[in-house]
Amino acid sequence: MRQKYAVAKTSEIPPGTHKLVEAGGRSIGVYNVDGTFYALRNVCPHQGAELCKGLVRPLIVSDEAGVYEQTRQGEIIRCPWHQWEFDIKTGCMIVDPDMRTRSYEVTVETFGVTVEEEHVFIHM
Ligand code: FES
Repeated sequence: MRQKYAVAKTSEIPPGTHKLVEAGGRSIGVYNVDGTFYALRNVCPHQGAELCKGLVRPLIVSDEAGVYEQTRQGEIIRCPWHQWEFDIKTGCMIVDPDMRTRSYEVTVETFGVTVEEEHVFIHM
């Protein structure tokens, strides 16, 4: 049965910020991306670093050498240990889809988030 945890007031996590919380014995990063809340487990699937202590970045894309563009500002979390990047909205790793080496699905555990009467709840 899923549990529901009140973890913060919405005013504690303005857009573009996040807060580390404890819920159900887990450390979780709650992110406000343009007014929508997302929750990621604070464990990197690579070697277990505290992922949510990493920098929040834009996605950097490029169609040709020397030219790049920043998109999706504030939607990417970069692990502080080895710089792997994950999509805050989905928990999925940011990878090159044309990469030829064998790949594995790498995701960060995510949780349902609701906002009720100015409080943020995590569901797990
Ligand atoms: S522990 Fe996160 S990238 Fe290595």
